[in-house]
Amino acid sequence: MKAKYDFSKGERGKFYNAKAVFDIPNFQEKDTGPKMRLNNKIAIVTGAGRGIGKAVALRFAEEGAKVVVDDVNDANGTETVAAITDAGGEAMFVNADVSNAVDAERLIAETVDAYGTVDILVNNAICSTADVLNNNWDANLAVALQGTSHCSNAAIPVMQQNGGGSIVNIASVNGLIGLQGIHAYSAAKGGVIALTRSMAVAHGKDNIRINCICPGTIQTEVWEPMIERNPQILDEITPWYPLGRIGQPVDIANAALFLASDEASFATGAVFVIDGGLTAGNHQFPI
Ligand SMILES: NC(=O)c1ccc[n+]([C@@H]2O[C@H](COP(=O)([O-])OP(=O)(O)OC[C@H]3O[C@@H](n4cnc5c(N)ncnc54)[C@H](O)[C@@H]3O)[C@@H](O)[C@H]2O)c1
Repeated sequence: MKAKYDFSKGERGKFYNAKAVFDIPNFQEKDTGPKMRLNNKIAIVTGAGRGIGKAVALRFAEEGAKVVVDDVNDANGTETVAAITDAGGEAMFVNADVSNAVDAERLIAETVDAYGTVDILVNNAICSTADVLNNNWDANLAVALQGTSHCSNAAIPVMQQNGGGSIVNIASVNGLIGLQGIHAYSAAKGGVIALTRSMAVAHGKDNIRINCICPGTIQTEVWEPMIERNPQILDEITPWYPLGRIGQPVDIANAALFLASDEASFATGAVFVIDGGLTAGNHQFPI
């Protein structure tokens, strides 16, 4: 069939290249029928023993990735692996403390030993809720910010050899707006956003995409100590959300899946806010 427009000619040809348009991988994938979005990709998820990290690990495995589950909690980490393998997926557990650069390097080395490479890294680990609530600066900066840097620095040379990769950093709405007075956590998450942009700019040339997600309140075990203090806390938080609900781990897992996959091939250095509208404004503001 004759093409309606010939983008290779005339003024528009300077900007549009018809061949490039149809070279987008997903156009070709559609022609060959449904395909898992992370087929045969090797993905590491830090802090994947529970909560958001676990949901990301399960979602990635469902889409065909071989998942390396990292956590400092052996019981939880092996449980995530079992959930994946029981469902027919492939995963292994590595106990590595992301705040320790040597451990982060071992995490990448064990992944390469087992699966040959690293395609995707999700920096998700966070220190304990007590450390967040008590403004423990060392713990917040070491796990959230330096941990992201340690794991990324260890994975990037492997991704460079591989011709590219995708890093997804889990930041927070606390990195964007002031909430609750948890200053050390907010500053660490603001740092994760800045680190994402800085590293994305440096590694675009390597075809390594680095993006971050800022979740709003997500119903995970981190909220348990706060629920003990105030059993109504999640009900009290909910009205702040324009969508009328707080988030579930799978809401973040789906966003991470998109960013990790080739569908996001033109996204890097971006801050994806997945927060039910919390930071869009105040929907109860009277006019
Ligand atoms: N739950 C929320 O409301 C919410 C909101 C915004 C952002 N986030 C972010 O999402 C991410 C996951 O949150 P979550 O609620 O699932 O947390 P979580 O506490 O349930 O899970 C964190 C996991 O990280 C592990 N971990 C702790 N220190 C580690 C270390 N040094 N090395 C490796 N693993 C370590 C823990 O054992 C745990 O399994 C965090 O980065 C958090 O800041 C969460």
